[in-house]
Amino acid sequence: MKLPTTYLKPGMKLEKPVYGSCGELLLNRNIVLTKRYIEALKKNNVLVVEVEGPVPLKEVEVKEELSAAIRAGAMQQLYSFVNRKDMSIISIKESVEVLLEEILSGREVIDQLVDLCSLDMYTFAHSVDVCVLSLLAGIKLGFKREKLLALGVGAILHDLGKTLIKPEILNKPGKLTQQEFEAVMTHPLKGWKLVEEREGDAIHPRSKKIILNHHERYDGSGYPRKLKAGEIDLFSAICAVSDVYNAMTTDRVYRKAFPAHEVYEMLLASCNSKFDKEAVNALLSCIKPYPVGTMVKLSNGKVACVVSQNDSLPFRPKVKVLPSGEICDLERELSVVIEKVLSPEEMRQLIS
Ligand SMILES: [Fe+2]
Ligand SMILES: [Fe+2]
Repeated sequence: MKLPTTYLKPGMKLEKPVYGSCGELLLNRNIVLTKRYIEALKKNNVLVVEVEGPVPLKEVEVKEELSAAIRAGAMQQLYSFVNRKDMSIISIKESVEVLLEEILSGREVIDQLVDLCSLDMYTFAHSVDVCVLSLLAGIKLGFKREKLLALGVGAILHDLGKTLIKPEILNKPGKLTQQEFEAVMTHPLKGWKLVEEREGDAIHPRSKKIILNHHERYDGSGYPRKLKAGEIDLFSAICAVSDVYNAMTTDRVYRKAFPAHEVYEMLLASCNSKFDKEAVNALLSCIKPYPVGTMVKLSNGKVACVVSQNDSLPFRPKVKVLPSGEICDLERELSVVIEKVLSPEEMRQLIS
C-alpha cells in the first residue's frame, strides 16, 4: 500500500521501486527500509512510497493542517470536470487520491475554509470539504484504500446535480417557494444521470449511489426516493452526515453558520432517526472544531483564543480570555460555551 514517507518505519519493505524527481532510481523494490534509507527518501522530497502492507490506517493520526493549495487544486479540477466535457473522471479520482494522501500524511482538517470562496464557487468548495470529511470518517471506520477512494469520489461529486440548477435559486437569500424547493430537490437524480450518461462504468457503483442517495434519511423522510435505514448504503450515510455538518457550520446567503457545538449536538441527537449512528459517530470522533489558535466569542460576551484541545469534549477546549490573559477551562466552566468562531474580518473590527 502507498504510505507517506513521514509514516515509514525501519523494517518495512518496498513494494515498488522509488524514483527521484529526474526519474533516477533511488531505491529498488524489495529493499528493507533502514533509518538511513528513510532519511534519504525525505531528503529527496519523496512524499509517498509503496510498501508491503497491510498498514492499519486507523493508527494514522491527523495532525498538521490540510494545505489550502491542495483543496484549491481539487476545487479547480472539479470545476473543470463540470465545465469541460473532455475532462474525464480520472482527473477527479486523482484529486481524491491527493486529498487522501494529504489526510493520511497527518494534515489536520480546518473547518470553515469555504468562507474564503465566492458565491459561485460555494458548491465546489463545499464538495471538497464534504469529500475530506467523508474520507476522515471512512478512515475512522477502518476502510481500505480502494473503498476510501470510491467513497471520496462519490462525496466530491455528491452535489454535481446542483450545477444544473439555476444559480438564482441556489443563491436566493430568502425562503424558497415550493416550486423552487422542488427544483433543488431534483439535484441528486440530475447528478446521478449526468455521471451515468457521461462516465458509465468508469465510476464505482457505490460512488454513484452517493450522488443519488445523499439526501435520503434514516427514517424515510429524505429525497428523492424516501429510502429507509436498511436501504441506504453506508457510503451515502457517511456523505449525508458530512454534507449536513459542513453546510450547517458554514455561512450561507440565507442564514449564518450554526455554532459547531450545536451542529454536533444536533447530529448526536439525530442518530438512528435522521442519520446512521455508525456514520455520525465516525465523523464526530474526528472533528476538531476549534484548533489551537482559533479566535472565538464566548457566550459571556468575552473574546478568547483556544490554547489547548480537549479530546474527550472537543467543544470545550481551554481558552485564554483577551485581553486579560486569564485561562478558562471550558470543561469546568459549564455555564460558558463558545458562541462562534471569529473571522479575521471580525477580529480586525474588534481591534479597531
Ligand atoms: Fe445535495
Ligand atoms: Fe451538499
